[in-house]
This record gives sequence, C-alpha cells and structure tokens, in this order.
Amino acid sequence: MTEKFCKYRPTYPENVCQVVIDYMKKRSEATFDLMLDVGCGGGHSSISFAPYFKAVIAIDADECKINEAKARNSAENITYKVGRAEELDVQDKSVDLVLSACAVHFFKISAFLNEVERVLKPGGCLALLGYLVPVAVPRGFKGDIQTRRGQFMKLTQDLLSSEIRERWVEFQHVADKYQTILETIQWPKKTRVKDLSMKFEWSSEQLTGFFYSLILVASCNSKRYAEVFSLKSQVTTSDLQNHDVISIMMKEMKKLCGVAHIQDEELRFSVTFDLFMLLSEKTEF
Ligand SMILES: C[S@@+](CC[C@H](N)C(=O)[O-])C[C@H]1O[C@@H](n2cnc3c(N)ncnc32)[C@H](O)[C@@H]1O
Repeated sequence: MTEKFCKYRPTYPENVCQVVIDYMKKRSEATFDLMLDVGCGGGHSSISFAPYFKAVIAIDADECKINEAKARNSAENITYKVGRAEELDVQDKSVDLVLSACAVHFFKISAFLNEVERVLKPGGCLALLGYLVPVAVPRGFKGDIQTRRGQFMKLTQDLLSSEIRERWVEFQHVADKYQTILETIQWPKKTRVKDLSMKFEWSSEQLTGFFYSLILVASCNSKRYAEVFSLKSQVTTSDLQNHDVISIMMKEMKKLCGVAHIQDEELRFSVTFDLFMLLSEKTEF
C-alpha cells in the first residue's frame, strides 16, 4: 500500500520552495544549516527542499514510508528516520526551518507547535503547506478553462472530497486551508501565502494514481478503507479505475472535457494544484 501511495505523490517545484526560502532570507542572508521535514512520507517534500540546506532530517511516524523515502528520494544531506511530530528527536534551538507538507492536519497540533518552538533557532521559520484536490484538464482542450475549472471543482467536491470527508475528521483543516492552525500559532510574525500553485503534465495513470493516493491518505484513519484497498502488489490503471469513486470521477471528467471517446492511455492532462501555505517566524528573545 505504501509503495502505491509514494509512487504517485508529486515533488514540489522550485517556485514553491523559493517562496519559503525568500521568507527565511528576510531574516538572514546566511546559508541555512538544518531543515526538519515532519511527516515526510515518501520523501517528496524532503528531496524538493534539500538543495537549500546543508542537512535535512526527515521524519515520519510510519516506518514503511521511511523505507520508501530512502529507496525513492535519497540524497547525501538527507537523514530519514521514524519519529512522531509530537515528540521530535532533535536538539533544542538547532533547526532553521521546520517544514510540514500535507501532513500537519494529522498531528496533535498544540503538542507539535510546542516541539517546533523548542527545536527552532531563535528567528527560525515554520512552513506548513497543503493542497486541495487538483484540477485536471486534458491536453489540447479548447474550451473555457475557467468554466471547466468550476465544474471540475464541483465534481471533485461532490465525489472525492465528500468520500474522504466522511472518513477523515481532520479533513476540516484542509477544507479551511489551515485557517484554524494559523490562529493557533502564537508568534506575531505569521502570514498566509496567496495565489500559489503548481502545475504538472500527467498521464491518465499518474492522475488516477494520485486520486487513489488521496483515498489512501483517508484510509490512514479508516480500517475499512485499508481493507478495501488491500490490493495486489502491482496496481494497474484498470485496478485503480475499478474503484467506484475514482472511476466515476474520471469518466465524468472526460465527459466534461469532451474527450470521453479517447482511450485513457492516449490522454495527457494538465494538472493544477492550488496550494495553501502558512509561514511563521519564531520570535527572538
Ligand atoms: C500525505 S503524507 C505527506 C508526505 C509528504 N510530506 C509529501 O508532501 O508528499 C502525510 C504523512 O504524515 C505522516 N504522519 C501522520 N501523523 C504523524 C505524526 N503524528 N508524526 C509524524 N508523521 C505523521 C503519515 O505517516 C504520512 O506519511
């Protein structure tokens, strides 16, 4: 299951990493020593930010994910290890950036923030980022993207999001784009980054695989889903599409975009994620 989850998660492009680094540079021109990636999963966030730091410690509560991260996204300056967000095995005041990408909504927020306060250097930064379900448009689609975007958002809201929401109470943090978490952060220097997105060109398999990984995320909190998805070791596009919600969504999306007659294998999608990001700087005393 972990292998399937990790295979379809995206890495974060330079424009996203640069927003965090620019925020950090406002307080210091020095090079950065240490980043801590909390809830690193398969290491996609760790590998994306690693070039900006001398060293990265990346932790996840799930040992299988740590093993996947080592296999998929290793780099000389990254140390992957099992650990929990609420009890960070890191020295006091040693970290320049604590990053958590698509993960903070799983944590016990106040225990995690206490730990962040402890491990960050004075003036160090916290970056929390996440995204909602992306909008996918088939390549070559000539219609009105804005209208399609609205229809697609409604479709995913109606199908995928409600499917996830039903099984995952923490989804509220994602639905409110971390607003409640922003209000919980006590440091005066905190901000929400607006208008941030990332775009990819994906095959049909990549897109269905990503949707499937979202359902797997929900399955972290649902035994029933873990059972439903105890699939074979190799997942094919047709396995993925045999799942009701994903299958319905892909079919509806193809209809919406007027490409229902085209075989999945021939389709390429332009996929846009709207990101939400909170940045905060630990107060220096
Ligand atoms: C959706 S994945 C995000 C992975 C990666 N950061 C990315 O951007 O692709 C969320 C991860 O948070 C981890 N996680 C959940 N609760 C945790 C906790 N309390 N402490 C550490 N990791 C946790 C899960 O095991 C999972 O790998």
